[in-house]
Amino acid sequence: MNLKEEILKLKKEKNACIMAHYYQDNDIQDVADYIGDSLALAKIAINVKEDIIVVCGVNFMGETAKILSPNKKVLIPDIKAGCSLADSCNPKDLKRLKEKYPDYKVISYVNTTAEVKALTDIVVTSSNAKKIVDSLPKDAKLIFGPDKNLGGYINKVTGRNMLLWEGGCHVHQRFSYSKIKDLKKKYPDAEILVHPECKKEVTELADFAGSTLAILNYVEKSSAKKFIVVTECGILHQMKIKYPDREFIAAPVEEDNIECNKCEYMRQNTLEKLYQCLKNESPEIIIDEKLRKEAIKPIDAMLKLS
Ligand code: 13P
Ligand code: SF4
Repeated sequence: MNLKEEILKLKKEKNACIMAHYYQDNDIQDVADYIGDSLALAKIAINVKEDIIVVCGVNFMGETAKILSPNKKVLIPDIKAGCSLADSCNPKDLKRLKEKYPDYKVISYVNTTAEVKALTDIVVTSSNAKKIVDSLPKDAKLIFGPDKNLGGYINKVTGRNMLLWEGGCHVHQRFSYSKIKDLKKKYPDAEILVHPECKKEVTELADFAGSTLAILNYVEKSSAKKFIVVTECGILHQMKIKYPDREFIAAPVEEDNIECNKCEYMRQNTLEKLYQCLKNESPEIIIDEKLRKEAIKPIDAMLKLS
């Protein structure tokens, strides 16, 4: 059986669309109708015409699509595709922190569960975090979570002093500062593109820091021919398709045996699981309506400001 052909057939029969994040396997990206960063996928979810949305990404991305499109059936190839960053913030602990700092507003990265979003004032993504924080009064008291590295980076570029949650993404934390520095010595003309979920010292090496989509778009504006890409290596697939005349080098991690730094959670989705998911219309993302109504408020606040 040709899985790609079967998926495209089922997609048509079931009036479904497929969304994929850049960290998906290449063959999943190749059958997707939309590929994007977290913000782009969230925005697309609002306007899709199809009855079914299959989110090829991790669980919080499926939840975000369902929160924004409650009348659609939202499917995910592997419901167990979690996220170490989303898991680093549990709603009970966030509630406790809010009680300790009652006059603070909570800004949460989109990589959070629906329960955490429901306790949040404004959701942000790595595409719009700077713009949103800049739009808030200079004296606003802010808690930023759960990614400490992204929060620290936003504090730096906005001149704020937000209280930071101690969470992180294990995939982005794996990148090696010293090996990237050595690589730059080998390729002095290469530009370093970094996702701000990386450790502070790694982000400080960047010629450009931004979300996956922002990194992809940056290449177009740059005159460099070579790029060291410091984020999950799935993004290299679209980079090579979009810019065939440029060279992209996946940045090294601390471990010597990993050439392509993959997110194990993202890669739990496979073409086979995508096929089964469309065929059986399962697993489906279900969110309690009361929770959904709370979780949509900070996402709407983000969409208004971004
Ligand atoms: P963006 O695609 O929004 O940059 O997010 C990166 C990420 O780690 C998603 O899990
Ligand atoms: Fe979560 Fe990191 Fe994987 Fe993104 S790359 S889904 S933040 S664990």
